[in-house]
Amino acid sequence: MSADHIPLPPPYRIKVVEPIPFLTPEQRRDAIETAGYNPFNLRSDQITVDLLSDSGTGATSSAQEAAAALGDESYAGARSWFRFRDEVADLTGYPHLLPVHQGRAGERILFSSLLKPGQICVSNTHFDTTHANVSIAGATPLDLPCAAAADLDSSEPFKGNIDLEALESTLAGPDGSRVGLVLMTITNNGLGAQPVSMANLEAVRALCQRFRVPFFLDAARFAENAWLVQQREPGYQDWTPRQIATRAFELADGCLISLKKDGLTAIGGLIGLRDDALFAQCEANLIATEGFSTYGGLSGRDLERLAVGLREVVDPAYLASRAAQTAALARMINDAGVDTIQPAGIHALYLNAGRLLPHLSPSEFPGHSLGCQMYLDGGIRVAELGSLYLGELDASYRVVKPAPFELVRLAIPRRVYTAEHFEYVAAVLGAIAKDPERIRGYRIVSAPPLLRHFKVRLTPIG
Ligand code: F0G
Repeated sequence: MSADHIPLPPPYRIKVVEPIPFLTPEQRRDAIETAGYNPFNLRSDQITVDLLSDSGTGATSSAQEAAAALGDESYAGARSWFRFRDEVADLTGYPHLLPVHQGRAGERILFSSLLKPGQICVSNTHFDTTHANVSIAGATPLDLPCAAAADLDSSEPFKGNIDLEALESTLAGPDGSRVGLVLMTITNNGLGAQPVSMANLEAVRALCQRFRVPFFLDAARFAENAWLVQQREPGYQDWTPRQIATRAFELADGCLISLKKDGLTAIGGLIGLRDDALFAQCEANLIATEGFSTYGGLSGRDLERLAVGLREVVDPAYLASRAAQTAALARMINDAGVDTIQPAGIHALYLNAGRLLPHLSPSEFPGHSLGCQMYLDGGIRVAELGSLYLGELDASYRVVKPAPFELVRLAIPRRVYTAEHFEYVAAVLGAIAKDPERIRGYRIVSAPPLLRHFKVRLTPIG
Protein backbone atom coordinates (compact mmCIF):
# COMPACT_ATOMS: atom_id res chain seq x y z
CA MET A 1 0.00 0.00 0.00
CA SER A 2 1.48 3.37 -0.96
CA ALA A 3 1.32 6.19 1.58
CA ASP A 4 -1.41 7.83 -0.55
CA HIS A 5 -3.69 4.91 0.13
CA ILE A 6 -3.21 4.62 3.88
CA PRO A 7 -6.51 5.67 5.52
CA LEU A 8 -6.13 8.83 7.59
CA PRO A 9 -6.98 8.89 11.29
CA PRO A 10 -9.63 11.32 12.59
CA PRO A 11 -8.50 14.95 12.13
CA TYR A 12 -8.50 15.68 15.89
CA ARG A 13 -7.02 14.39 19.12
CA ILE A 14 -8.68 14.17 22.52
CA LYS A 15 -8.02 16.79 25.20
CA VAL A 16 -10.91 16.34 27.64
CA VAL A 17 -12.31 12.92 28.55
CA GLU A 18 -15.30 11.69 30.51
CA PRO A 19 -15.23 8.33 32.35
CA ILE A 20 -17.75 5.69 31.33
CA PRO A 21 -19.13 3.08 33.73
CA PHE A 22 -18.82 -0.71 33.47
CA LEU A 23 -21.64 -2.43 35.38
CA THR A 24 -21.83 -6.09 36.33
CA PRO A 25 -24.37 -8.26 34.48
CA GLU A 26 -26.53 -8.27 37.67
CA GLN A 27 -26.45 -4.48 37.88
CA ARG A 28 -27.47 -4.22 34.23
CA ARG A 29 -30.33 -6.68 34.77
CA ASP A 30 -31.61 -4.62 37.69
CA ALA A 31 -31.18 -1.36 35.80
CA ILE A 32 -33.14 -2.39 32.71
CA GLU A 33 -35.87 -4.00 34.80
CA THR A 34 -36.27 -0.82 36.86
CA ALA A 35 -36.38 1.11 33.57
CA GLY A 36 -39.44 -0.90 32.51
CA TYR A 37 -37.25 -2.39 29.77
CA ASN A 38 -37.25 0.99 28.05
CA PRO A 39 -33.73 2.31 27.31
CA PHE A 40 -35.05 5.90 27.46
CA ASN A 41 -35.59 5.32 31.20
CA LEU A 42 -32.00 4.26 31.90
CA ARG A 43 -29.65 6.63 33.68
CA SER A 44 -26.53 7.57 31.72
CA ASP A 45 -24.35 6.32 34.60
CA GLN A 46 -25.73 2.85 33.86
CA ILE A 47 -24.52 2.87 30.24
CA THR A 48 -21.12 1.85 28.87
CA VAL A 49 -21.56 2.83 25.20
CA ASP A 50 -24.50 5.11 24.46
CA LEU A 51 -25.74 4.85 20.87
CA LEU A 52 -29.27 6.04 21.62
CA SER A 53 -28.91 9.27 19.65
CA ASP A 54 -26.47 11.38 17.69
CA SER A 55 -28.43 14.44 18.83
CA GLY A 56 -26.66 16.84 21.17
CA THR A 57 -24.26 14.06 22.12
CA GLY A 58 -21.20 15.14 20.11
CA ALA A 59 -17.94 16.56 21.45
CA THR A 60 -17.25 20.24 20.94
CA SER A 61 -13.84 21.46 19.77
CA SER A 62 -11.33 23.67 21.54
CA ALA A 63 -12.18 26.37 18.99
CA GLN A 64 -15.88 26.14 19.87
CA GLU A 65 -15.17 26.39 23.58
CA ALA A 66 -12.85 29.35 23.00
CA ALA A 67 -15.61 31.05 21.02
CA ALA A 68 -18.12 30.28 23.78
CA ALA A 69 -16.01 32.33 26.18
CA LEU A 70 -16.87 35.35 24.02
CA GLY A 71 -20.59 34.65 24.30
CA ASP A 72 -22.68 37.80 24.66
CA GLU A 73 -25.74 37.20 26.82
CA SER A 74 -27.53 40.48 26.07
CA TYR A 75 -31.26 39.94 25.95
CA ALA A 76 -31.61 41.52 22.50
CA GLY A 77 -29.16 42.19 19.70
CA ALA A 78 -26.28 40.21 21.19
CA ARG A 79 -23.00 40.13 19.25
CA SER A 80 -23.21 36.33 19.34
CA TRP A 81 -26.50 36.42 17.46
CA PHE A 82 -24.97 38.42 14.62
CA ARG A 83 -22.01 36.07 14.40
CA PHE A 84 -24.36 33.08 14.26
CA ARG A 85 -26.74 34.79 11.84
CA ASP A 86 -23.98 35.77 9.40
CA GLU A 87 -22.60 32.24 9.41
CA VAL A 88 -26.01 30.65 8.78
CA ALA A 89 -27.00 33.25 6.18
CA ASP A 90 -23.78 32.51 4.30
CA LEU A 91 -24.40 28.76 4.47
CA THR A 92 -28.12 28.70 3.65
CA GLY A 93 -28.82 31.92 1.76
CA TYR A 94 -32.16 32.43 3.56
CA PRO A 95 -33.01 36.08 4.23
CA HIS A 96 -34.98 35.29 7.39
CA LEU A 97 -33.47 33.21 10.19
CA LEU A 98 -35.04 32.37 13.53
CA PRO A 99 -33.05 30.57 16.23
CA VAL A 100 -34.88 28.01 18.37
CA HIS A 101 -33.72 25.86 21.27
CA GLN A 102 -34.00 22.63 19.26
CA GLY A 103 -35.47 21.21 16.08
CA ARG A 104 -38.93 20.36 17.34
CA ALA A 105 -39.53 23.93 18.56
CA GLY A 106 -38.98 25.00 14.97
CA GLU A 107 -41.42 22.32 13.81
CA ARG A 108 -44.09 23.53 16.20
CA ILE A 109 -43.65 27.17 15.22
CA LEU A 110 -43.48 26.59 11.46
CA PHE A 111 -46.31 24.07 11.23
CA SER A 112 -48.69 26.09 13.40
CA SER A 113 -48.12 29.06 11.07
CA LEU A 114 -47.97 27.27 7.73
CA LEU A 115 -50.28 24.24 7.96
CA LYS A 116 -54.06 24.46 8.31
CA PRO A 117 -56.17 21.72 9.89
CA GLY A 118 -57.11 19.15 7.25
CA GLN A 119 -54.01 19.79 5.14
CA ILE A 120 -51.38 17.19 4.24
CA CYS A 121 -47.62 17.40 4.76
CA VAL A 122 -45.77 15.14 2.31
CA SER A 123 -42.26 13.90 3.06
CA ASN A 124 -39.72 11.28 2.03
CA THR A 125 -40.11 10.26 5.71
CA HIS A 126 -41.16 12.37 8.68
CA PHE A 127 -38.99 12.04 11.78
CA ASP A 128 -41.07 11.10 14.85
CA THR A 129 -41.34 14.56 16.42
CA THR A 130 -41.97 16.04 12.96
CA HIS A 131 -44.80 13.57 12.46
CA ALA A 132 -46.19 14.48 15.89
CA ASN A 133 -45.98 18.23 15.28
CA VAL A 134 -47.70 17.95 11.88
CA SER A 135 -50.49 16.02 13.62
CA ILE A 136 -50.70 18.53 16.48
CA ALA A 137 -51.19 21.28 13.85
CA GLY A 138 -54.26 19.32 12.68
CA ALA A 139 -52.63 18.18 9.42
CA THR A 140 -51.82 14.68 8.18
CA PRO A 141 -48.25 13.51 7.62
CA LEU A 142 -47.81 11.42 4.46
CA ASP A 143 -44.56 9.52 3.81
CA LEU A 144 -43.69 8.70 0.20
CA PRO A 145 -40.26 7.01 0.34
CA CYS A 146 -38.79 5.80 -2.96
CA ALA A 147 -39.27 2.14 -3.87
CA ALA A 148 -35.55 1.35 -3.45
CA ALA A 149 -35.82 2.08 0.28
CA ALA A 150 -37.89 -1.07 0.74
CA ASP A 151 -34.94 -3.31 -0.16
CA LEU A 152 -32.74 -3.10 2.92
CA ASP A 153 -29.91 -5.04 1.26
CA SER A 154 -29.61 -3.15 -2.02
CA SER A 155 -26.68 -0.80 -2.42
CA GLU A 156 -28.61 1.89 -4.30
CA PRO A 157 -26.84 5.16 -3.47
CA PHE A 158 -29.87 7.39 -2.71
CA LYS A 159 -32.46 5.33 -0.88
CA GLY A 160 -33.46 8.46 1.07
CA ASN A 161 -35.17 9.92 -2.00
CA ILE A 162 -38.88 10.63 -2.22
CA ASP A 163 -40.94 8.66 -4.75
CA LEU A 164 -41.34 11.37 -7.40
CA GLU A 165 -44.16 9.63 -9.25
CA ALA A 166 -46.13 9.20 -6.05
CA LEU A 167 -45.49 12.83 -5.14
CA GLU A 168 -46.67 14.01 -8.55
CA SER A 169 -49.80 11.89 -8.46
CA THR A 170 -50.57 13.12 -4.94
CA LEU A 171 -50.16 16.74 -6.03
CA ALA A 172 -52.18 16.22 -9.22
CA GLY A 173 -54.79 13.95 -7.61
CA PRO A 174 -57.97 14.61 -5.62
CA ASP A 175 -55.97 15.40 -2.44
CA GLY A 176 -53.56 17.71 -4.25
CA SER A 177 -55.24 20.92 -3.12
CA ARG A 178 -54.86 19.79 0.51
CA VAL A 179 -51.08 19.48 0.35
CA GLY A 180 -49.80 22.37 2.43
CA LEU A 181 -46.10 21.49 2.52
CA VAL A 182 -43.51 19.13 1.05
CA LEU A 183 -40.75 18.46 3.57
CA MET A 184 -37.60 16.60 2.54
CA THR A 185 -35.61 15.07 5.40
CA ILE A 186 -31.88 15.07 4.64
CA THR A 187 -30.49 12.57 5.44
CA ASN A 188 -33.49 10.30 5.85
CA ASN A 189 -33.25 9.43 9.54
CA GLY A 190 -36.47 7.41 9.60
CA LEU A 191 -35.24 5.22 6.75
CA GLY A 192 -31.72 4.04 7.38
CA ALA A 193 -29.80 7.37 7.38
CA GLN A 194 -29.96 7.17 3.60
CA PRO A 195 -29.09 10.32 1.65
CA VAL A 196 -31.26 12.27 -0.79
CA SER A 197 -29.74 13.08 -4.17
CA MET A 198 -29.55 16.59 -5.56
CA ALA A 199 -31.44 15.33 -8.61
CA ASN A 200 -34.30 14.28 -6.34
CA LEU A 201 -34.31 17.66 -4.58
CA GLU A 202 -34.29 19.45 -7.96
CA ALA A 203 -37.26 17.39 -9.13
CA VAL A 204 -39.18 18.03 -5.89
CA ARG A 205 -38.57 21.74 -6.30
CA ALA A 206 -39.89 21.64 -9.88
CA LEU A 207 -43.05 19.79 -8.79
CA CYS A 208 -43.61 22.15 -5.86
CA GLN A 209 -43.24 25.16 -8.14
CA ARG A 210 -45.64 23.65 -10.68
CA PHE A 211 -48.27 22.92 -8.03
CA ARG A 212 -47.50 26.03 -5.94
CA VAL A 213 -46.77 24.15 -2.74
CA PRO A 214 -44.07 25.32 -0.28
CA PHE A 215 -40.97 23.10 -0.29
CA PHE A 216 -38.89 22.89 2.90
CA LEU A 217 -35.88 20.89 4.03
CA ASP A 218 -35.65 19.14 7.38
CA ALA A 219 -31.89 19.52 7.23
CA ALA A 220 -30.67 18.14 10.56
CA ARG A 221 -27.86 16.27 8.77
CA PHE A 222 -27.27 18.63 5.85
CA ALA A 223 -23.47 18.21 5.94
CA GLU A 224 -23.63 14.41 6.02
CA ASN A 225 -26.10 14.44 3.12
CA ALA A 226 -23.74 16.75 1.22
CA TRP A 227 -20.81 14.41 1.85
CA LEU A 228 -22.72 11.42 0.50
CA VAL A 229 -23.79 13.46 -2.56
CA GLN A 230 -20.17 14.39 -3.19
CA GLN A 231 -19.13 10.74 -2.89
CA ARG A 232 -22.01 9.14 -4.78
CA GLU A 233 -23.78 11.49 -7.20
CA PRO A 234 -22.24 12.03 -10.63
CA GLY A 235 -21.40 15.68 -11.30
CA TYR A 236 -20.63 16.68 -7.69
CA GLN A 237 -17.11 15.27 -7.25
CA ASP A 238 -15.54 18.70 -7.63
CA TRP A 239 -17.95 20.47 -5.28
CA THR A 240 -17.13 20.98 -1.61
CA PRO A 241 -19.62 19.63 0.94
CA ARG A 242 -20.40 23.21 1.88
CA GLN A 243 -21.18 24.16 -1.73
CA ILE A 244 -23.48 21.15 -2.06
CA ALA A 245 -25.26 22.02 1.19
CA THR A 246 -25.72 25.62 0.07
CA ARG A 247 -27.16 24.45 -3.25
CA ALA A 248 -29.64 22.19 -1.41
CA PHE A 249 -30.83 25.11 0.74
CA GLU A 250 -31.11 27.25 -2.39
CA LEU A 251 -33.55 24.78 -3.93
CA ALA A 252 -36.02 25.05 -1.05
CA ASP A 253 -38.34 27.80 0.18
CA GLY A 254 -37.09 27.34 3.70
CA CYS A 255 -35.70 24.89 6.21
CA LEU A 256 -35.98 23.47 9.67
CA ILE A 257 -32.69 22.40 11.24
CA SER A 258 -32.05 20.65 14.51
CA LEU A 259 -28.56 22.01 15.12
CA LYS A 260 -27.95 19.33 17.76
CA LYS A 261 -26.61 17.15 14.95
CA ASP A 262 -24.57 18.93 12.26
CA GLY A 263 -24.33 22.09 14.37
CA LEU A 264 -21.86 20.11 16.53
CA THR A 265 -23.44 21.42 19.73
CA ALA A 266 -25.54 20.10 22.60
CA ILE A 267 -28.51 22.34 21.85
CA GLY A 268 -29.91 24.53 19.10
CA GLY A 269 -32.18 24.74 16.12
CA LEU A 270 -33.17 27.04 13.32
CA ILE A 271 -35.96 28.07 10.99
CA GLY A 272 -34.86 29.52 7.64
CA LEU A 273 -37.43 31.33 5.49
CA ARG A 274 -37.78 33.40 2.33
CA ASP A 275 -41.42 34.50 2.71
CA ASP A 276 -41.86 37.80 4.58
CA ALA A 277 -45.41 37.18 5.83
CA LEU A 278 -44.59 33.68 7.07
CA PHE A 279 -41.52 35.07 8.80
CA ALA A 280 -43.60 37.70 10.62
CA GLN A 281 -46.02 35.04 11.83
CA CYS A 282 -43.28 32.66 12.96
CA GLU A 283 -41.37 35.47 14.65
CA ALA A 284 -44.39 36.49 16.73
CA ASN A 285 -44.85 32.87 17.80
CA LEU A 286 -41.13 32.56 18.55
CA ILE A 287 -41.10 35.62 20.79
CA ALA A 288 -44.14 34.37 22.69
CA THR A 289 -42.87 30.83 23.19
CA GLU A 290 -39.08 30.52 22.72
CA GLY A 291 -37.54 33.90 23.40
CA PHE A 292 -36.65 37.09 21.56
CA SER A 293 -35.76 36.61 17.91
CA THR A 294 -32.05 37.22 18.46
CA TYR A 295 -31.65 34.26 20.82
CA GLY A 296 -34.73 31.97 20.54
CA GLY A 297 -34.07 30.00 23.71
CA LEU A 298 -30.30 29.75 23.17
CA SER A 299 -27.55 31.35 25.17
CA GLY A 300 -24.99 33.61 23.53
CA ARG A 301 -22.45 30.90 24.30
CA ASP A 302 -24.52 28.32 22.39
CA LEU A 303 -24.75 30.68 19.41
CA GLU A 304 -20.96 31.13 19.43
CA ARG A 305 -20.33 27.37 19.56
CA LEU A 306 -22.77 26.94 16.67
CA ALA A 307 -21.14 29.62 14.51
CA VAL A 308 -17.87 27.68 14.77
CA GLY A 309 -19.48 24.20 14.62
CA LEU A 310 -21.25 24.99 11.36
CA ARG A 311 -17.82 25.63 9.77
CA GLU A 312 -16.17 22.57 11.29
CA VAL A 313 -18.93 20.21 10.22
CA VAL A 314 -18.41 20.80 6.49
CA ASP A 315 -14.66 20.15 6.69
CA PRO A 316 -14.06 17.31 4.20
CA ALA A 317 -11.46 15.69 6.48
CA TYR A 318 -13.98 15.56 9.35
CA LEU A 319 -16.78 14.19 7.15
CA ALA A 320 -14.49 11.61 5.52
CA SER A 321 -13.34 10.37 8.90
CA ARG A 322 -16.89 10.23 10.32
CA ALA A 323 -18.20 8.34 7.29
CA ALA A 324 -15.26 5.92 7.50
CA GLN A 325 -15.94 5.32 11.19
CA THR A 326 -19.55 4.32 10.51
CA ALA A 327 -18.57 2.21 7.50
CA ALA A 328 -15.94 0.38 9.57
CA LEU A 329 -18.50 -0.36 12.29
CA ALA A 330 -20.92 -1.66 9.63
CA ARG A 331 -18.26 -4.01 8.25
CA MET A 332 -17.42 -5.38 11.70
CA ILE A 333 -21.09 -5.93 12.52
CA ASN A 334 -21.82 -7.56 9.16
CA ASP A 335 -18.75 -9.81 9.54
CA ALA A 336 -20.07 -10.79 12.95
CA GLY A 337 -23.24 -12.07 11.27
CA VAL A 338 -25.70 -9.20 11.78
CA ASP A 339 -27.15 -7.51 8.69
CA THR A 340 -27.49 -3.74 8.51
CA ILE A 341 -29.36 -1.53 6.05
CA GLN A 342 -27.11 -1.09 3.02
CA PRO A 343 -25.29 1.00 2.09
CA ALA A 344 -24.08 2.38 5.43
CA GLY A 345 -25.07 6.01 6.01
CA ILE A 346 -23.20 8.27 8.39
CA HIS A 347 -25.07 9.18 11.56
CA ALA A 348 -26.39 5.71 12.35
CA LEU A 349 -26.48 2.03 11.45
CA TYR A 350 -29.72 0.10 11.38
CA LEU A 351 -29.60 -3.57 12.36
CA ASN A 352 -32.01 -5.98 10.69
CA ALA A 353 -33.37 -7.51 13.90
CA GLY A 354 -36.26 -9.19 12.09
CA ARG A 355 -33.78 -11.26 10.12
CA LEU A 356 -31.55 -12.05 13.09
CA LEU A 357 -34.46 -13.13 15.31
CA PRO A 358 -36.95 -14.92 13.04
CA HIS A 359 -38.24 -16.88 16.03
CA LEU A 360 -39.82 -13.68 17.39
CA SER A 361 -43.01 -12.33 15.81
CA PRO A 362 -43.56 -8.56 15.45
CA SER A 363 -45.85 -8.78 18.51
CA GLU A 364 -42.81 -9.87 20.51
CA PHE A 365 -40.85 -6.81 19.30
CA PRO A 366 -37.66 -8.39 17.93
CA GLY A 367 -35.90 -5.03 17.53
CA HIS A 368 -36.64 -4.14 21.10
CA SER A 369 -35.50 -7.59 22.24
CA LEU A 370 -32.18 -7.17 20.43
CA GLY A 371 -31.72 -3.71 21.91
CA CYS A 372 -32.39 -4.96 25.44
CA GLN A 373 -29.95 -7.82 24.89
CA MET A 374 -27.23 -5.39 23.80
CA TYR A 375 -27.74 -3.60 27.09
CA LEU A 376 -27.91 -6.78 29.17
CA ASP A 377 -24.76 -8.22 27.56
CA GLY A 378 -22.68 -5.10 27.05
CA GLY A 379 -24.25 -2.02 28.62
CA ILE A 380 -24.87 -0.65 25.11
CA ARG A 381 -27.90 1.59 24.66
CA VAL A 382 -29.64 1.70 21.27
CA ALA A 383 -33.11 2.54 19.91
CA GLU A 384 -35.72 0.26 18.40
CA LEU A 385 -37.18 1.29 15.04
CA GLY A 386 -39.71 -1.45 14.45
CA SER A 387 -43.19 -2.39 15.55
CA LEU A 388 -42.74 -0.90 19.01
CA TYR A 389 -42.06 2.50 17.42
CA LEU A 390 -44.20 2.30 14.29
CA GLY A 391 -46.60 -0.63 14.56
CA GLU A 392 -50.35 -0.18 15.03
CA LEU A 393 -51.54 -1.60 18.35
CA ASP A 394 -54.98 -2.43 19.67
CA ALA A 395 -56.27 -1.33 23.08
CA SER A 396 -54.53 -4.25 24.79
CA TYR A 397 -51.23 -3.37 23.08
CA ARG A 398 -51.28 -6.27 20.62
CA VAL A 399 -49.72 -5.48 17.24
CA VAL A 400 -52.48 -5.34 14.63
CA LYS A 401 -50.28 -3.86 11.89
CA PRO A 402 -46.54 -4.43 12.21
CA ALA A 403 -43.90 -1.95 11.05
CA PRO A 404 -42.48 -2.76 7.60
CA PHE A 405 -39.15 -3.75 9.20
CA GLU A 406 -37.93 -4.67 12.65
CA LEU A 407 -34.85 -2.48 13.01
CA VAL A 408 -32.49 -1.28 15.73
CA ARG A 409 -30.69 2.03 15.31
CA LEU A 410 -27.11 2.46 16.49
CA ALA A 411 -26.66 6.24 16.38
CA ILE A 412 -23.07 7.47 16.33
CA PRO A 413 -22.30 10.56 18.42
CA ARG A 414 -19.92 12.96 16.66
CA ARG A 415 -16.23 12.90 17.70
CA VAL A 416 -17.02 10.87 20.85
CA TYR A 417 -16.14 7.18 20.55
CA THR A 418 -12.94 5.57 19.29
CA ALA A 419 -12.34 2.51 17.13
CA GLU A 420 -12.01 0.42 20.30
CA HIS A 421 -15.51 1.36 21.44
CA PHE A 422 -16.85 0.21 18.09
CA GLU A 423 -14.85 -3.04 18.24
CA TYR A 424 -16.51 -3.64 21.60
CA VAL A 425 -19.99 -3.00 20.16
CA ALA A 426 -19.31 -5.39 17.27
CA ALA A 427 -18.00 -8.04 19.69
CA VAL A 428 -21.13 -7.82 21.87
CA LEU A 429 -23.33 -8.14 18.78
CA GLY A 430 -21.19 -10.97 17.43
CA ALA A 431 -21.71 -12.94 20.64
CA ILE A 432 -25.48 -12.38 20.39
CA ALA A 433 -25.46 -13.49 16.74
CA LYS A 434 -23.84 -16.82 17.70
CA ASP A 435 -26.89 -17.84 19.71
CA PRO A 436 -29.84 -15.60 18.79
CA GLU A 437 -32.47 -18.12 19.80
CA ARG A 438 -31.85 -17.52 23.49
CA ILE A 439 -33.32 -14.03 23.10
CA ARG A 440 -36.85 -13.66 24.45
CA GLY A 441 -39.59 -11.37 23.26
CA TYR A 442 -41.29 -8.59 25.22
CA ARG A 443 -44.83 -7.41 25.76
CA ILE A 444 -46.09 -3.91 26.58
CA VAL A 445 -47.32 -3.18 30.09
CA SER A 446 -48.28 0.48 29.52
CA ALA A 447 -47.89 3.00 26.71
CA PRO A 448 -48.86 6.62 26.03
CA PRO A 449 -51.00 7.38 22.95
CA LEU A 450 -48.51 9.75 21.23
CA LEU A 451 -44.77 9.11 20.70
CA ARG A 452 -45.18 5.74 22.35
CA HIS A 453 -41.55 4.59 22.31
CA PHE A 454 -40.34 7.33 24.66
CA LYS A 455 -42.44 6.33 27.67
CA VAL A 456 -43.59 2.76 27.00
CA ARG A 457 -42.97 0.13 29.71
CA LEU A 458 -42.49 -3.55 28.88
CA THR A 459 -41.79 -6.91 30.44
CA PRO A 460 -40.05 -10.02 29.07
CA ILE A 461 -42.34 -12.80 27.85
CA GLY A 462 -41.97 -16.08 29.74
N1 F0G B 1 -35.73 16.14 12.33
C1 F0G B 1 -34.90 15.09 12.25
C2 F0G B 1 -34.58 14.48 10.94
C3 F0G B 1 -34.35 14.56 13.43
O1 F0G B 1 -33.54 13.51 13.36
C4 F0G B 1 -34.67 15.16 14.67
C5 F0G B 1 -34.14 14.64 15.93
C6 F0G B 1 -35.54 16.26 14.68
C7 F0G B 1 -36.05 16.72 13.48
C8 F0G B 1 -35.95 16.95 15.95
O2 F0G B 1 -34.89 17.70 16.43
O3 F0G B 1 -34.35 16.65 18.61
O4 F0G B 1 -33.52 18.93 18.03
O5 F0G B 1 -35.91 18.56 18.55
N2 F0G B 1 -33.56 13.53 16.01
C9 F0G B 1 -32.93 12.94 17.17
C10 F0G B 1 -32.57 11.51 16.86
C11 F0G B 1 -33.64 13.12 18.44
O6 F0G B 1 -32.15 10.81 17.78
O7 F0G B 1 -32.67 11.09 15.71
P1 F0G B 1 -34.67 17.96 18.00
